[in-house]
Amino acid sequence: MVYKVPFVNYPEHYRRMWDEVIGAISEALSKGDLLLRGQLKQFENDIASFVGAKYAVGLGNGTDAIFLSLKAAGIGSGDEVITVSHTFVATITCIVHCGATPILVDVTEDMNMDMEQVEQRITPKTKAIIPVDLNGRMCDVGKLMKIADEHDLIVIEDAAQALGASFDGKKAGSFGLTGCFSLYPAKMLGAAGDGGFLTTNDAEMDEKIRLLRDHGQQRSTGKILFYGFNSRLDNIQAAILNVKLKYLPEWIERRRDIAEFYQEGLLDIHEVKLPPPPTEAGSYYDVYQNYVIRVKDRDKLVAFLERNGVETIVSWRIPNHTHPALKLGHFSLPKTEELSATVISLPMYPELSDEHVDYVVDVVHDFYKRR
Ligand SMILES: Cc1ncc(COP(=O)(O)O)c(C=O)c1O
Repeated sequence: MVYKVPFVNYPEHYRRMWDEVIGAISEALSKGDLLLRGQLKQFENDIASFVGAKYAVGLGNGTDAIFLSLKAAGIGSGDEVITVSHTFVATITCIVHCGATPILVDVTEDMNMDMEQVEQRITPKTKAIIPVDLNGRMCDVGKLMKIADEHDLIVIEDAAQALGASFDGKKAGSFGLTGCFSLYPAKMLGAAGDGGFLTTNDAEMDEKIRLLRDHGQQRSTGKILFYGFNSRLDNIQAAILNVKLKYLPEWIERRRDIAEFYQEGLLDIHEVKLPPPPTEAGSYYDVYQNYVIRVKDRDKLVAFLERNGVETIVSWRIPNHTHPALKLGHFSLPKTEELSATVISLPMYPELSDEHVDYVVDVVHDFYKRR
């Protein structure tokens, strides 16, 4: 189906910087720079300074950033790791693949980790916490870091959806032992395919992750220091990302403007719960990776928007802890379950025009007028 307002618009995204992107790819290919070369080093340096961390390591995807962080931190069998169920399943998958036990807590109104529950779920086996900064808003990282310090726990930030977001002026990815980011095409900064990276202020972690992503090989000596993995961010992707990173600040501004337009347009529909607008975010600087509204008759509104040419997505219709295959049914997380029944992500990307935002707002108004 061709949507009047698609959920993402990759052709338009690339059309706007076509020559620069093609130029960067051509340059990498003509030099034969494919893996672990200059474009990657440039990306790692620039993204580390954007986030405000000492180091960044380019990886195959955001899932590997979380997985390799846990591995490098020595998390394994017998350890418990606290995270949320209201996240992309990858967060939980990484804990399980390390042999550790995921302990899931509920979320609060902002859809992020409930820090009181985190404190209640700490046991002698707890080794780490993975907070998720969902939809471009950071979790209550002030409280979180206090809890982690008091209990001597490792924090691995799942900042896959929060590149550029900050709390009290400090960016996502600069608080924990590592910050984990996805470069999936629809993310704040998207590769032309899969990609990811992590940030850290810890020199030992930086070195260990560089080895883990490359089979444990110490290239200078030829020694294999431990069993590793293959998870390198390709140079072609890094070359494209170097072009895009320049535009990231203006893309974030545009997303915040769109959030403001949605807020103004939808505020008077009392059936719709909106995320906080940029102007009322207090300590939080939100980047609106997703613009998620909540409504009781979610599926009817999704169908109405679809019939009127507006593509939306629902993240996530089935809470992770209720998938029988994941064997997490022993958790009871009422807020997470309520969100799964009510959330809709409206189109949100820098290329979205004001006219398209107005159109989406009109369709939502029409839906509530006709009922
Ligand atoms: C919250 C969250 N965590 C982890 C990931 C995994 O990232 P990737 O798809 O790059 O492996 C994503 C990506 O969608 C995500 O949104």
